[in-house]
Amino acid sequence: MNKIVVVGYGKMAKAICDGLRDDFEIELVGRDLQKAKKFKDELNLECSIYELKNYDISEKIVLLCVKPYAIDDVSKELIGQANVLISILAGTRLEKLKSKISANYVIRAMPNVAAQYKKSITTITGDILAKDVAVEVLSKIGQVVWLNSEKELDIATALGGSAPAFLSIVAESLIDGGVKEGLKRDDATVVVNTLFEGFSYLLKDIHPALIKESVMSPGGTTAEGVFSLEHDKIRSAFMKAIHKTNLKAKELSKI
Ligand SMILES: NC(=O)c1ccc[n+]([C@@H]2O[C@H](COP(=O)([O-])OP(=O)(O)OC[C@H]3O[C@@H](n4cnc5c(N)ncnc54)[C@H](OP(=O)(O)O)[C@@H]3O)[C@@H](O)[C@H]2O)c1
Repeated sequence: MNKIVVVGYGKMAKAICDGLRDDFEIELVGRDLQKAKKFKDELNLECSIYELKNYDISEKIVLLCVKPYAIDDVSKELIGQANVLISILAGTRLEKLKSKISANYVIRAMPNVAAQYKKSITTITGDILAKDVAVEVLSKIGQVVWLNSEKELDIATALGGSAPAFLSIVAESLIDGGVKEGLKRDDATVVVNTLFEGFSYLLKDIHPALIKESVMSPGGTTAEGVFSLEHDKIRSAFMKAIHKTNLKAKELSKI
């Protein structure tokens, strides 16, 4: 079984360890052994636990799952040179990772909140020679897409990482719309939740424009709703949200 070192025991580490458990021997590393033990117990995970201080990463595959601001503290504690370092730290550039933690190959990965259901879309970039290792690890929490630059990773982060928040606003607004028209909130919620689930299957096979056209009959009810959304500039609102998110990501990664 392949070995992997997971540094950090937060929400993302939990989702990822849950995905890796059957295929990897996990070494969990953190600054608080009590928290690490709790993490292990809650997941009912077979893993060894190590203190962060002076942990030797030599020749290992290391998955960094701490907060972005923790990089300075964590890097001071790790010793040796890893084989592959995979970082999920939002906005932390490859250059910074390489300057802080010694590794033969470095990969930046951006999973999303659906990792806990193994449905993450995880975009990755970095040293191409470590691509296969990173894909093997991260495909345990969903689909992985390789990108050729950090510029693209920032854009994909706005889409895959932040869009769950934007879609949550869509879901909430649809529910509120149903309630405003007189539907009970519980019923509106069931309708919208199921709608998203069914829609995800449609989207896998059919282009969104064609899905829209298939329900938008001439002079019909849906056409009236589509006209209203277009009138209120729904498309530019979403495109602008992605643009602003991407700008902010660029700004933060300079810090
Ligand atoms: N949540 C998401 O949807 C998501 C998506 C993509 C990427 N990410 C990235 O994933 C990483 C982890 O996020 P999360 O949501 O799992 O966060 P989290 O649940 O808050 O966990 C953060 C982890 O970082 C550790 N940590 C913080 N400061 C530390 C320090 N100074 N030294 C050592 N360890 C430290 C924490 O340990 P203690 O408890 O001991 O402080 C904890 O294990 C972040 O870098 C984030 O950018 C998250």
